[in-house]
Amino acid sequence: MPDITKPILEVKNLRTSFFTDDGEVKAVRDVSFDLYEGETLGIVGESGCGKSVTVMSILGLVQRLGKITGGQVLFRGKDLTKIPADELRHVRGRDIAMIFQDPLSSLNPVLSVGYQIDEAMYAHDVIKHDDIRARGVDLLEEVRVPDASRRIKDYPHQFSGGMRQRAMIAMGLSNKPKVLIADEPTTALDVTVQAQILELLRDLNQNTGTSIILITHNLGVVAGLCQRVIVMYAGEIVEEGTAEQIFENPQHPYTWSLLRSMPRVDTSRRERLKSIEGLPPDLIAPPPGCKFNPRCPFRIEQCFSDDPTLETVGDDDRHIAKCWVRMKRAYAEMGAATLTDTRPGAASGVRPPKTLVEKLEDSREIEPDTEAVGDLRGS
Ligand SMILES: Nc1ncnc2c1ncn2[C@@H]1O[C@H](COP(=O)(O)OP(=O)(O)OP(=O)(O)O)[C@@H](O)[C@H]1O
Ligand code: SF4
Ligand SMILES: [Mg+2]
Repeated sequence: MPDITKPILEVKNLRTSFFTDDGEVKAVRDVSFDLYEGETLGIVGESGCGKSVTVMSILGLVQRLGKITGGQVLFRGKDLTKIPADELRHVRGRDIAMIFQDPLSSLNPVLSVGYQIDEAMYAHDVIKHDDIRARGVDLLEEVRVPDASRRIKDYPHQFSGGMRQRAMIAMGLSNKPKVLIADEPTTALDVTVQAQILELLRDLNQNTGTSIILITHNLGVVAGLCQRVIVMYAGEIVEEGTAEQIFENPQHPYTWSLLRSMPRVDTSRRERLKSIEGLPPDLIAPPPGCKFNPRCPFRIEQCFSDDPTLETVGDDDRHIAKCWVRMKRAYAEMGAATLTDTRPGAASGVRPPKTLVEKLEDSREIEPDTEAVGDLRGS
């Protein structure tokens, strides 16, 4: 069981921006969270909400044009955003390993898989050099690559997609890291292999107590694997809680919408999935107030002017949400339980203030999606 008194990684008020010709893309906006020893923490949210940039920032891997503009990432008392590059390189791979979505681009095509796994161990000096060879085979066996002692000599192109992903996991685990970050580790794989890889991550977490951050679009996977969940929207955390709190009692309208758009086994086949209306905001110039206001069925006037802060929901301080209304009130006052029209403002009947509509119409920089504009114009 995870020890929730002991954070192994503390992210505090992290901000990361990309300085582009069009302006500052604030991709991560004041993100704070803890990862506890032995837990699996899920990060979910639509494409572009800042999941990858958050974890890349933790490891100092933000791409060109990108810069951490504030905050701290504390690991064993050290701020990873401040330590020298060579020290950070040692933390990466030795203490915190990362598995990416596309293993082909992370494996060197001209070196054998075994050589690359061995190299990862030689680079960090955690494993005794005499043991490295044998450990390479053991690791491949551990991640269930069949005939590991022979296949370890193969080159990446001789491995299937699923095996390459396993080889990446083996490499990630080679130095017995405390933390494993998996960013969409199974997206490129077929469903059966996905299930095997996820089972592997679960075993790893349970058997070795490695803490895992798992980023995925698949909420079903999160429900099955993660003890806690972070929901991100437009570069911010909008809700955080235990898996049970998030799935059974979501309090942010965005989380509620995400869960409604998720396929359920008990849903009749003819019932269509309810996608979330509109698109995520422009991260250079998001709307004033709550960034979900152009799409939110439950918005109230205050949502257009004031940005809510993350606050505890109910009695349990592990469950926090960033919303003026929250679903408890939406159920009680806005008929959320029986809501079929989920268009922006549908439940509350609140339209955006006229001044905002005019400002958007005048703006050349902002080009909100047509649906949101239609709505903002009150059509
Ligand atoms: N190199 C870059 N230059 C400019 N903007 C970038 C760059 N990399 C990411 N961004 C922007 O940062 C935001 C967050 O991107 P990020 O990759 O973290 O999204 P994500 O949540 O991981 O999405 P996905 O689910 O599609 O992987 C996006 O709006 C993206 O356009
Ligand atoms: S109710 Fe308001 S604050 Fe809450 S998510 Fe909707 S727009 Fe944002
Ligand atoms: Mg991503």
